[in-house]
Amino acid sequence: MRFNKGQEIIDILRGKYRVINNYPQDIKDSIEYIDNIEEKSFYDIYSKHKGLLSDKWEQYLHVYNKHFRHFIDENKPVNLLEIGVFKGGSLELWGEYLPENSKIIGIDINPECADIKFNNENIEVIIGSASDKDFINKHFKDAKFDIIIDDGSHICSDVITSFEEFFPKLNYGGIYIVEDLHTSYWPKYEGGYYNKNSSINYFKDIIDSLNFDYINIFNPYKTKLNKIKKLKTLNTQIGSMTFYDSILVIEKYYKEKQRRMKSCLIGTENLSNGETKEHKYNKFERFFK
Ligand SMILES: C[S@@+](CC[C@H](N)C(=O)[O-])C[C@H]1O[C@@H](n2cnc3c(N)ncnc32)[C@H](O)[C@@H]1O
Repeated sequence: MRFNKGQEIIDILRGKYRVINNYPQDIKDSIEYIDNIEEKSFYDIYSKHKGLLSDKWEQYLHVYNKHFRHFIDENKPVNLLEIGVFKGGSLELWGEYLPENSKIIGIDINPECADIKFNNENIEVIIGSASDKDFINKHFKDAKFDIIIDDGSHICSDVITSFEEFFPKLNYGGIYIVEDLHTSYWPKYEGGYYNKNSSINYFKDIIDSLNFDYINIFNPYKTKLNKIKKLKTLNTQIGSMTFYDSILVIEKYYKEKQRRMKSCLIGTENLSNGETKEHKYNKFERFFK
């Protein structure tokens, strides 16, 4: 039999011959590799969870698994803030999933959340509204987080205020997640399709910050000065914005972006005088985690 490392053959081997110990070494390594991936996957943690109740949409599991991967691989404690505690299940899950000694803080407006008992001393619940600037200032004045998840009221103005207040508190290399963005299409949540005040439109507007370096700000559209300033600031911070069904992931650059991105020629250029010029590129600057 010819072995390869494809998922299918390994699945067959694992399922059928798990007890046999005399596979070639590369197959053993592959099996161990896949077992490790499964152990660390968010799907696995979620599907085995038996404790406090959590309420997440199925596509979010993929998002966490994909965008939190580097925190798991680095295996260093992280600081996570989640707006919206509900029954405490998600905080408990973060405690199980993230590297040991990670600090997990939940904010909820419902005082009953303060009574939830966690089997993890690194989990803390703070009662208050995540769109109340005085509350935020009182409890989080100098706080810094690696991950911030907004799963609170999902009311457009709250989502926007929370982003404006908490995004500056996200460390470089951090991830800001806005969940349940579908509510921004619903009037009950101050949203609506084409409603310019909806949270989805607010974030669509911010996309321009990614390309701020290429926008001619003296354009005929008379963009307001404070908007230009905001986009300029965010341009130095936001590395990517990934929109999924109902959920947005905003990644902060690894460090403040202090210059425009450069184009980098590589390879052989044929010059007009018939000569050639070799282009080399070895000064990689790190912008992403
Ligand atoms: C969808 S649930 C959170 C679910 C939880 N994150 C989970 O995954 O299991 C929303 C929570 O947000 C809380 N909430 C509503 N408005 C809030 C606000 N302004 N600030 C903080 N929490 C709020 C609610 O009390 C509720 O517990």
